[in-house]
Amino acid sequence: PASTTAPRPGELAVGGVPLAEIADRFGTPVYVLDEAEVRHRCRTYRDAFPNAEVLYAAKAFLCRAMVRWMDEEGLGLDVCSAGELELAVTAGFPPERMVLHGNAKSPRDLETALRLGVGRIVIDSPSEIARLAAAVGPSGSQKVMVRVVPGISAGGHEKIRTGTDDQKFGLSIADGYAQHAIARVLGQPQLRLTGLHCHLGSQITSVKPYLAAVRRMVGLMARLHEQHGLVLPELDLGGGHAIAYRPGDDALDLTSLARKVRTELADACASAGLPVPRLVIEPGRAIAGPAGVALYRVLAVKHSGGKVFVAVDGGMSDNPRPALYGVRYAPRLTGRNSTAAPARVTVVGRHCEAGDIVASDTELPADVRPGDLLAVPAAGAYHLSMASGYNLVGRPPVVAVRDGLARLLVRRESIEDIRSRDVGL
Ligand code: LLP
Repeated sequence: PASTTAPRPGELAVGGVPLAEIADRFGTPVYVLDEAEVRHRCRTYRDAFPNAEVLYAAKAFLCRAMVRWMDEEGLGLDVCSAGELELAVTAGFPPERMVLHGNAKSPRDLETALRLGVGRIVIDSPSEIARLAAAVGPSGSQKVMVRVVPGISAGGHEKIRTGTDDQKFGLSIADGYAQHAIARVLGQPQLRLTGLHCHLGSQITSVKPYLAAVRRMVGLMARLHEQHGLVLPELDLGGGHAIAYRPGDDALDLTSLARKVRTELADACASAGLPVPRLVIEPGRAIAGPAGVALYRVLAVKHSGGKVFVAVDGGMSDNPRPALYGVRYAPRLTGRNSTAAPARVTVVGRHCEAGDIVASDTELPADVRPGDLLAVPAAGAYHLSMASGYNLVGRPPVVAVRDGLARLLVRRESIEDIRSRDVGL
């Protein structure tokens, strides 16, 4: 039913539904996804990049409703496993609008991709070339791209930088491995090379590294043209566009990115004497992240060691990002109005380790107490998709909100779900 309760003072609403109502109806912790915001972000990309192919990077967060929204908004999908591929296809997504990534694709990944007819497969290593060619068979044909490392450092944290030569993805231009692999692909008649791919990293706040990537990639395309007479119709610049996690954080300006990349690409291609390839981009975080809110219930508040700890009913099993990358969030009290002065607190999770932090050194009203609800904004990407089974607490549900209506997309993982996989004894 549509929400009838108008938000009370101090109460946050998403998609016209008060968060407190969602907590009452679905329990906590719970992830709330604003459908209109997801769709709006897809449209922003389509408008900013009208001639590009926009692929949603499914690793940020995937469920069947999300797949349908991407389809309806005209986006493609970047998938990186048989699991993501199969889920998308069962939700009715056309496989030809999907691109398969992965630095270590399993036999099952490749078999599923070929069986379902995935649009393009991005080759990440030399050994994959022969393996893929054999799987396609002499009479088959599969479109591929080659993932190239442009040698550019960008991204919010060392662990999510993928444009430098010393990390595991792709083939480096600097030492010639990319050129070798491309020549080998060209020697396989059943593999059709449609373009080059690079992904610099994630949570990138500046346009500059993308412009550098355009120059390096077009430079390589020019050399391939000289050596092999090759003209590639597409150039995939990956994703990585930063969002704000806290008020005041920098986000990447998409309009500026689109305008500058378009100009840089046109200029670089003109001076290389190449036609301008169709641009492909793969945003994940910037589509799902800002549309999600994590909602927790406070279970305990205590003073210890000179700090105030506010402990909630979720934590690193539903959001490992503070522990992995030291990311800082800004939870907000919701469900009641507090006039108390702000206090510095550390919001922690319920898990059995000291690194289980939801928000380090943040501000909440000083009267925050057990039973309160805390909403963590920008929780739509790389939270639940990286959720774990730690401490067997069960992964939280996902609720979609739109026009004052809330509906369950993914149900809470129950102890019965967990027990049913345990087939030993
Ligand atoms: N394309 C490729 C080939 C990727 O590997 C990724 C992300 C994307 C696109 C999308 O990047 P985005 O637009 O979402 O930044 N778990 C980390 C992020 C890892 C990103 C992995 N690859 C985090 O929580 O920050």
